[in-house]
Amino acid sequence: MELTNTRRVVPRATWLDSTPSTNAELREAARAEALPHGTLIATADQTAGRGRLSREWITPPGTALAISILIRDFGVRGLGVSWLPLLAGSAVTAALQPLFFDGMRVGVKWPNDVHVRDEQDAEAGRPGLKLCGVLCEMLPDGSVVVGMGVNLLIPDWELPTDRATSVLAGGGNVGGAETIADPLGADLADRVTASVAAELLRLTALAADQPQAARALVLRHSLTLGSEVRVHLPGDDVVDGRARGLADDGALLVDLPTGGQLTVSAGDVEHLR
Ligand code: BTN
Repeated sequence: MELTNTRRVVPRATWLDSTPSTNAELREAARAEALPHGTLIATADQTAGRGRLSREWITPPGTALAISILIRDFGVRGLGVSWLPLLAGSAVTAALQPLFFDGMRVGVKWPNDVHVRDEQDAEAGRPGLKLCGVLCEMLPDGSVVVGMGVNLLIPDWELPTDRATSVLAGGGNVGGAETIADPLGADLADRVTASVAAELLRLTALAADQPQAARALVLRHSLTLGSEVRVHLPGDDVVDGRARGLADDGALLVDLPTGGQLTVSAGDVEHLR
């Protein structure tokens, strides 16, 4: 694929017809040569994608985007590196929200998923469905590979779980595209990739120069804040509460029914309502 739009916003962009993992590919490429900030590798056929907590990330070929972008010098000033998954989720949110009609809200589920939900369902206590997962991996030189798996055209019968959706299955406007292998789908994939990349580069610069503005944007894009949540902590502990805010390092602050507060730096969060 040409990636015509994407090439306008990043210094280097590579489209691979197939690869085991764009994160692994970019990590290897960064080991072999000094790649510039913003170097991007993408594919619509990732055969051994990796998710958080050593999970697999599997999507049917031609239906989802795997995008990895190299971010250099993050956290040297401004927001620290633990904010990067939240900023990546914000970048994907900004890129995907315009594809959905009024009443459908795209946003970040702490710490590193992008969900979409019908606002009426949200009022009825039904949480959203996952559109994208983010996996950030730090390299030995301190740069970070930001990997994003975007469910673009997965038909509903091929969704990996009942908590996942795609732009197509979620009712977003894909302009009649059916697969990224077709010209319509390729154009959509390039526009989405360009938009995600441009927004991620803008947000990482903002996080250094105006950390409070970047933080405010993350808060605005959060679907978790204000929700009742069930937190699955490392070691199998489960805690229910209301997500109230983010700490200075991006950790989730949860008000407990007993009156105390929990600071969650790592764990899985379920939205209860
Ligand atoms: C998760 O939700 O567990 C995170 C999934 C991250 C998947 C993306 S796809 C692009 C990049 N390459 C990978 O192997 N994983 C990430």
